[in-house]
This record gives sequence, C-alpha cells and structure tokens, in this order.
Amino acid sequence: MGQSGGELHHYKFEVPEIIFGRGLLGRVGSCASRLGGRRVFVVSDAGLFEAGWVDTVLGSLRDSGLEAVYYDNVSPNPRDRQVEDGAREYLRLGADVVVGLGGGSAMDAAKGIALLASNGGRVQDYEGSNRIHKPLPPLVLCPTTCGTGSDVSQFAIITDTVRHCKMTIMSRTVAPDISLTDPDTLETLPEEFVCTTAADALSHAVEAFFSIAATSLTDVHAVKAVRLLSTSLVAAVRARDAKALENLSRASLHAGMAFSNSLLGIVHALAHPIGGLYDTAHGCVNAILLPEVIRYNLPAVEDKLPELAWGLGHRTDGDPDEAASIICDAVDELLEATGAPRHLSSLGVARDSLPELAERALNDACILTSPRKAAVSDLLSILERAY
Ligand SMILES: [Fe+2]
Repeated sequence: MGQSGGELHHYKFEVPEIIFGRGLLGRVGSCASRLGGRRVFVVSDAGLFEAGWVDTVLGSLRDSGLEAVYYDNVSPNPRDRQVEDGAREYLRLGADVVVGLGGGSAMDAAKGIALLASNGGRVQDYEGSNRIHKPLPPLVLCPTTCGTGSDVSQFAIITDTVRHCKMTIMSRTVAPDISLTDPDTLETLPEEFVCTTAADALSHAVEAFFSIAATSLTDVHAVKAVRLLSTSLVAAVRARDAKALENLSRASLHAGMAFSNSLLGIVHALAHPIGGLYDTAHGCVNAILLPEVIRYNLPAVEDKLPELAWGLGHRTDGDPDEAASIICDAVDELLEATGAPRHLSSLGVARDSLPELAERALNDACILTSPRKAAVSDLLSILERAY
C-alpha cells in the first residue's frame, strides 16, 4: 500500500456479509443452511447457555433441518488446548459449519477450531500474519457483547498456555462468512461486561482512527463508533435503555470494521501481553491504557484531532491543542462513566513485571501501526503512568 500526504492511496477494505437487527438470532439456522451445513458445531459458553441464547441458536438450526452440536469448553482468554480439543471434536463428529456465539473469547475459539480442523497442526503454527494456506469451513459469528469486533475481523487471539502469552493470528481467512448481530442479546449481558466491552470498542475505534494504515473508509466507521459510544454509553449502562444498548452493538460493529482494516496500536500491543501473563479482562486493561496512549500519540495525530473531538460530541475551531484537551477530558469522562478500573495495580499486575510487559509489547503486531513510534522506555512510561 502506498501513502502520500497522510492518506493511503492504495488500499482494500474487507468485511464479511453482515446481518444486524433485533430478534434475528433465530436466523442462524438459515445462514448455516445456505452455507451448505448439515451438522453444525456451535461454540459458546456457560453464560450464554444460562441466558437462553444457546437454545435459540440450537433451536434455529434444528428448525432449518440441521443437526446441531454444542461445544462449551471455552474460557475468557481462550486457551490453545481448548481450541485443539474443539477441533478434534469437530472432526470426530463430522461437522461441516462452525457457529461462534458469545464475546471475543467464544468467537476467537470458534475461529481457532475452524482453523485447526481444516489446516491441522497447532495454533502456534499460525501465529503472525498470513500463515494460513487452506480455506476454513464456513463460519458464522454472532456477537453477544458490545466490544471485540471479532465477528467482522481478520484476527483471532488465543492464549499460549506454555509461554503465557496471547498469540495473534492475522489472516483474511479467519474472517467469518457471516457476522450476525442481534442486539437483544445485550439485554442479558451483566452491566460490568457492557462497560468493559464498550471500553474495548472505544479503544478499537480510537486506535483504528489513529493507525498509520487508516483510510477514509476506516475513518468513517471509527468516528461513527466513537459518536455512538459517546451518545449512548451512559444511557445503556445506567438505564439499560434498549435503544442505547442497540447503539452499543452498532458501535462495536463499526469499530470492528475499522480496526480489521486499519489495524490497531499501542493499547492493544500492551493489552495482549498483560492478558497473556495475568489472564485479565481485555476491556478492563484497555480502559486503563487508552487515556495514556492517546496522550502519548497526540503529537503524531494533530491533523485528526478535530474530527475525533467531533465524534466525541464537541465542536472545535480546528486548533489541535484545544481538540487534544477536549478529547482527553471526554475520553476520561466516558471511561469514568463505565465504572471500569482505572489503574493496572487494581488488576493484580505486579509493578516489577512492567519492564517485561513493555519488552513483549514491542513484539506484538499491533505496535506496527502506531502513529507514534515507541521504544521500550516509552512503553514502560505509559505502563507506569497507568499503574
Ligand atoms: Fe480489543
């Protein structure tokens, strides 16, 4: 891709087929059917089962004349072994379509299972960019949180249980065939998950907007996501307002389309090793790091600040300094409203591990699209300020 005057002039923008609307989870059966499925492997977790959404999916598949198998061995920060077990099970049962239902963990596990079932080997064999050579089985992903973006993204994040790190698999091959969002599923999501996954969506949108691989197409989606979050987050959390919750689902989708195509930055480069080492909730870590990373990036993104300030609901006269201070205050205020933790120390991160975390972040693929280059010392300063 070429770049001139801050805008990439050669780029592509990829998204799966997207189905969005309240009450549409029951369409998953027709989706799997038209993808040629006969025996569908549904990956989800206990929380979704208790909320009744797994039954909705299984019922929809059976109503479409398909066999349905339910696999629930998925934890937050899904493990390589869970993915390997799932792929074995998929093959043993002779399944032919994978459906992932849940947050990023269930959907990334579904991607990993589809990957190993078709390409063999271990998750570690595919860590990094574009290392997948065979097509995956048809994949339908149904998000039930308002963060992650995995349902439209070219990423899967799986934890390596030996090295205690998160592996990033990046390939257009892991993007699903169909992303199906039913915002009704947010109504059973506990408040803390609404808050932390919305913080993840905000991080996706801001990092995608600041990325050196951002384009006018990704910017449209990133700013739309910020706008939806800034107008709807408080009402969604405090009043559980249905329209506001639906807007958070939209925000997650827009942010996902943006970051899948423009990639991310320092927030995620740091969040991955922290999650790998401490098994922390991804959205919580991002909520803590985002304000500090925005402050770090400000000198490198001055021309984009007025538009981001607009996304956050503020008009500026185009002065980057004014926009910078508006953005920092507005993001702080928004994250404060989510009630998400504000310090790494509160997540059990040990201070003496910060140098190792900074070192590991330098090797994360997300660092490559940061608008401001960072040395280990810069990353360590960000971690210390966030501690
Ligand atoms: Fe994220």
